Amino acid sequence: MLARAVMTYLLLLIYCINISASRTNFTDESALLVFIAQITNDPDGTLSKNWTQGTEVCSWIGVSCSTRKHRVVSLNLKSLRLRGSIPKEIGNLSFLSFLDFGNNTFNGVIPNELGRLTRLKYLSLQMNNLTGEIPQSLGYLSRLQVLDLSENDLYGYVPSSIFNISSLKIIDLNLNDLSGNLPNDMCSNLPMLQYLFMDNNGLVGELQSRLDKCTQLLALSLSYNRFTDMYLGWNKLTGNIPSEIQNLPAIQHLSL
Ligand SMILES: *[C@@H]1O[C@H](CO)[C@@H](O)[C@H](O)[C@H]1NC(C)=O
Ligand SMILES: *[C@@H]1O[C@H](CO)[C@@H](O)[C@H](O)[C@H]1NC(C)=O
Ligand SMILES: *[C@@H]1O[C@H](CO)[C@@H](O)[C@H](O)[C@H]1NC(C)=O
Ligand SMILES: *[C@@H]1O[C@H](CO)[C@@H](O)[C@H](O)[C@H]1NC(C)=O
Ligand SMILES: *[C@@H]1O[C@H](CO)[C@@H](O)[C@H](O)[C@H]1NC(C)=O
Ligand SMILES: *[C@@H]1O[C@H](CO)[C@@H](O)[C@H](O)[C@H]1NC(C)=O
Repeated sequence: MLARAVMTYLLLLIYCINISASRTNFTDESALLVFIAQITNDPDGTLSKNWTQGTEVCSWIGVSCSTRKHRVVSLNLKSLRLRGSIPKEIGNLSFLSFLDFGNNTFNGVIPNELGRLTRLKYLSLQMNNLTGEIPQSLGYLSRLQVLDLSENDLYGYVPSSIFNISSLKIIDLNLNDLSGNLPNDMCSNLPMLQYLFMDNNGLVGELQSRLDKCTQLLALSLSYNRFTDMYLGWNKLTGNIPSEIQNLPAIQHLSL
């Protein structure tokens, strides 16, 4: 009798553990529910048909989870024609390493809380209608390799904190309304940087940065801004670009 009761209890316990192990973390689930509540237009019904409450979050389209802990590690919602704003609760997806909202119609600002996603390696918000300033807090994303905020309506200064993320390989801020100067030591902490695109903005002043410290740079594009002078290494660019290019040993594409 007792043995059977113990057995039943054990079976029940195993069953409960199984259930809790296969459920997504509640924090992750509530962050995604807040996110979908802020989607104002989903013309193809991609999310509204699929992200249904009561079904396992890890099976939702565009969502990938870690196998062991069932934490959301990737959110890929590229090119789904979604409109809406990005809620600050996104910053609660603390295991996220990949986030791609590119080529949609997201509007509003980039929430500061994105800076809490310190596991993030890939962040693309390209081709949306995001406005406001690039949050300084993105500087906390110390494992980030790709930062693509191109083709939005972002304005203000490029926060110097992002030039502190030494893991960055790609920075693309093309086609925004960014203004102000770039920091002089822009390349001091970017030893891995391969692609730097900041063309079609309103950047001004002398570009004095020691760009030659970005030794891995394959492509550099700074065209269509309002720089008055540019330097590569210690040399002011005077129209003798070919000789200055020796300061960027890996360069394959240069657009100034
Ligand atoms: C869910 O995630 C939060 C935040 O990372 C954490 O504090 C909490 O312990 C997690 N819960 C479970 C059941 O793993
Ligand atoms: C959502 O989409 C995924 C991937 O296409 C699919 O496996 C899952 O069954 C769908 N869920 C619902 C509730 O439609
Ligand atoms: C953007 O998304 C639309 C709609 O899904 C698609 O037709 C188009 O090819 C995408 N463009 C790019 C550049 O990815
Ligand atoms: C998620 O984030 C919001 C705002 O950043 C916060 O108010 C909330 O308490 C967080 N935690 C959970 C479990 O949703
Ligand atoms: C959104 O941005 C696109 C370019 O990326 C632009 O053509 C469109 O007019 C913008 N829409 C709104 C509502 O601002
Ligand atoms: C860059 O990183 C260093 C060391 O982590 C820190 O002291 C400094 O304040 C950071 N600079 C910016 C502009 O964020």
